Amino acid sequence: MTHLTVYTDGETPRRLLETEDAGVITATLKEIDVRLRRWEVVGALTSGGTREEVLAAYRQEVARVVAEEGYAFVDVARLHPSDDPGWPEPARAAREKFLAEHTHDDDEVRFFAGGTGVFYLHVGGRVHAVLCEAGDLLSVPKNTTHWFDMGARPDFTAIRFFHDDDGWVGNFTGDPVSTRVPGHDAIVARRAAGKAR
Ligand SMILES: [Fe+2]
Repeated sequence: MTHLTVYTDGETPRRLLETEDAGVITATLKEIDVRLRRWEVVGALTSGGTREEVLAAYRQEVARVVAEEGYAFVDVARLHPSDDPGWPEPARAAREKFLAEHTHDDDEVRFFAGGTGVFYLHVGGRVHAVLCEAGDLLSVPKNTTHWFDMGARPDFTAIRFFHDDDGWVGNFTGDPVSTRVPGHDAIVARRAAGKAR
């Protein structure tokens, strides 16, 4: 279930809201022009699958988004834990890439086919931390200040949509706010402990 925490953005962030109520999450995100929609999950792909399998499973939904919103590129980002000694370093590097606050010149649109990731949207003095799970399609408008945390042991499969190759370049703001707000793993642990209910 999707989980939203809203924090203040000061030196010691305070929780203003924590909820798993889908209606509240959608309405709260709508206030900052972020859209969250749900697609029916293909259960067999929640823990993996090839790029082709993922795109084939969600073919109709992907085609609809591409047609409605004019995306030219669709790809699949996947990271799942492995015992391979060569796995931790690229996983750490992948996590670091967008862990600091940044913007893009294009919308950032992702559908989670499996696993989890937290998008942090920093708007109007508040940080909206959206813990996304299988079935979540999140659309972050271009120029929205945000960051993304996949956790210390990344585990997710996501379909990404974009208009052009350059849209994925991050314009980093230099604001250290992302270092002050609880990360993916802390939010997942808190949810597991039932704190949102
Ligand atoms: Fe981003």
